[in-house]
Amino acid sequence: MKFRTFLFVFLGFALFLGFSSCEGDEGPVGPAGPTGETGEQGLPGEQGWGTQDCAKCHSNSQLITAKVFQWEHSGHATGGHYDRNTTSCAVCHTSQGFLERIATGGQTTAEDIKDPLPQNCYTCHKIHQTYTEADWASTVTEPVTLWLTGDIIDVGKGNLCVSCHQARIPSPALPDPATGGTVTITNSRYGPHHGAQGMMFNGKGGYEVGTGYSNSAHTQFVENACVTCHMATAKAAVAGGHTFNVSTGEEFADINTAACVACHTNLGELETTVDDVRADIDNLVVELETKLVDRGLLNPTTKLAIPNQDFEGHEAGALWNYQYVLEDKSRGIHNYKYAKKLLENSIAALQ
Ligand code: HEC
Ligand code: HEC
Ligand code: HEC
Ligand code: HEC
Ligand code: HEC
Ligand code: HEC
Repeated sequence: MKFRTFLFVFLGFALFLGFSSCEGDEGPVGPAGPTGETGEQGLPGEQGWGTQDCAKCHSNSQLITAKVFQWEHSGHATGGHYDRNTTSCAVCHTSQGFLERIATGGQTTAEDIKDPLPQNCYTCHKIHQTYTEADWASTVTEPVTLWLTGDIIDVGKGNLCVSCHQARIPSPALPDPATGGTVTITNSRYGPHHGAQGMMFNGKGGYEVGTGYSNSAHTQFVENACVTCHMATAKAAVAGGHTFNVSTGEEFADINTAACVACHTNLGELETTVDDVRADIDNLVVELETKLVDRGLLNPTTKLAIPNQDFEGHEAGALWNYQYVLEDKSRGIHNYKYAKKLLENSIAALQ
């Protein structure tokens, strides 16, 4: 008998037994079996279901209330883009999608995320995994491999942030900056997606045309990167702590300098430095923008590419660098030297 035939016959017999057994009279109940081994203790952990561990977090200290209040004022809570719940967007834009991604190591979720939630306590902390204080641990502690370049980034507590604040892989790919090449851009949003800060801070992912690239001191000296500057002592619920904001506006005075002062002890000097750096980067951005607009590659109003045309030589790379520095949004503060060189060399490449 062929194996498949055997299988059908066997299954048929099993089904027959299954159905026919419903028909007969039920026999007497057998004797009780021996007591099984004691199972592993269930959650929450060693302390059992007592409330002593719960109270370490849920108490009248207002610990959670304070963080919730700050978080409610953060871009994570208010940004509103958690509706981007399809498989390739949900991995960063929804809490559930992110947790699925870090469990599988993939770059998409298996399915669209139902009931999508923005980044919240459960996204970044291991809340209610053991029901002890250990659950404040970060969901990401390991170094992060950048999707775009494959570089491995290790910025301590900032690894969590870099997991999402990085570029996606562009389609079509950029040419080799050593030679340039023709890229047919069909999407006006061609560029490193929003939130390229994790790459910028570490000096990765730019279109490195020309030479002379280096990183600012921040890359080397600011431990835990993002977390140090963005989660410094909270300033009301507008900056610092779980607002994740480092600034509330365009001016130096709007910056929460609680973290900066550990290294920049003279605030007057820091103000001059920040103003100079921002003016320099802003001017270079405008210079590059003008070149792209003059070549008919960029829409000056939307700041997006004019699609359905060939970008020749270093044009696609220059557009990339322009979007990259703009989307970094720190105007040079994350990594001044790297941002400046990308802009200068892009401008030179379009002469
Ligand atoms: C590590 C700290 C921590 C511990 C320990 C902890 N929780 Fe929570 N719990 C949280 C946080 C954070 C939230 C979410 C708060 C929010 O979003 O408003 C939460 C939310 C809750 C909620 C609201 C419903 C929900 O699931 O969001 C309940 C109920 C709750 N916890 C019960 C418990 C109980 C019972 C224990 C102990 C068995 C416990 N928690 C232990 C931190 C903790
Ligand atoms: C799960 C992915 C994810 C993680 C982890 C994450 N972010 Fe975000 N972040 C986002 C997304 C997505 C947005 C945009 C939210 C929106 O518009 O809906 C955002 C927005 C922000 C904003 C507001 C930006 C603006 O333009 O107003 C700041 C600041 C920020 N994140 C900092 C951080 C820091 C600091 C960390 C690490 C402590 C971090 N993020 C971790 C995905 C993430
Ligand atoms: C985007 C990621 C992110 C989100 C969302 C987030 N946290 Fe945090 N949280 C962090 C990071 C990173 C730290 C460490 C900060 C530091 O070391 O300065 C932290 C620290 C904490 C601490 C101090 C923990 C300790 O070990 O003492 C508490 C408490 C806390 N968070 C509560 C919350 C609560 C409650 C929520 C939800 C309202 C929340 N967090 C949402 C990233 C996040
Ligand atoms: C690798 C993580 C990641 C993926 C994947 C991702 N995003 Fe984002 N996205 C971010 C981050 C981080 C921000 C916030 C950046 C900031 O404010 O600086 C953001 C911001 C946005 C914004 C707000 C832009 C603005 O100017 O306010 C939109 C819209 C958006 N993303 C759409 C999408 C869509 C659509 C997809 C899927 C096709 C997607 N994103 C996939 C990380 C991601
Ligand atoms: C040396 C301090 C410092 C470090 C480290 C740092 N940032 Fe920033 N970041 C800033 C400043 C200052 C701004 C400008 C804020 C502004 O003008 O609104 C900024 C801007 C941003 C913005 C745009 C926020 C907005 O409201 O427009 C995001 C998002 C961001 N940073 C994320 C990150 C991430 C992710 C990391 C880690 C890879 C990081 N930052 C590391 C200081 C820092
Ligand atoms: C861990 C130390 C440390 C922290 C924290 C820090 N910086 Fe710096 N920063 C430096 C060092 C070191 C330099 C290089 C100084 C030099 O070259 O003379 C620098 C340089 C700068 C520059 C000049 C451009 C550059 O990168 O060379 C700016 C602007 C700046 N910092 C802004 C800030 C702001 C704003 C904050 C807080 C939000 C901050 N820094 C937090 C150490 C730090």
